Amino acid sequence: MLISKKINDAINEQIGIEFGASLQYLAMAAHFAAEGLTELAAHFYRQAEEERDHAMRFVQYVVDVGGRVEIPAITAPKCSFKSVEEVVKLSLDGEKPVTGHINVLVELAIKSSDHITQNFLSWFIREQLEEVSRMESLLKTVQRAGETNLLYVEEHLARQRNHKAAAAAE
Ligand code: FEO
Repeated sequence: MLISKKINDAINEQIGIEFGASLQYLAMAAHFAAEGLTELAAHFYRQAEEERDHAMRFVQYVVDVGGRVEIPAITAPKCSFKSVEEVVKLSLDGEKPVTGHINVLVELAIKSSDHITQNFLSWFIREQLEEVSRMESLLKTVQRAGETNLLYVEEHLARQRNHKAAAAAE
């Protein structure tokens, strides 16, 4: 095995955190879908998919380095919300421990002179920065719009989605 037992255990913990985040975003997406806020629902369904992808990257890494994948119990997500702002704030707060745990992983890898894991984790460090900044920007949009003007948020997300699709097609 190319990684230590300690790093293997910490990555297994991270797999649980990523799947937990995926379930939380899924619950949020379903909440927005039920409220008829289709762009917010689509945005959070995509977030849920991204978190699942993060978990799978860690799973694949453990397999690649000859470690042992042990998926921990996942806490049930919160499923009822009072406002869009509450959901976005919760999402932002949820990303902080994810970033914190990735930092712990990086420190463990540095202490063990485990350059392979360090290199693997660099993608996640960039990803966390992007996710936190995207969520902070959504929070600002939601706060500017207020709960009575959620169509503004829906339009904003639709425009963003169209820009991304156009950029991807170029
Ligand atoms: Fe997988 Fe949102 O971090």
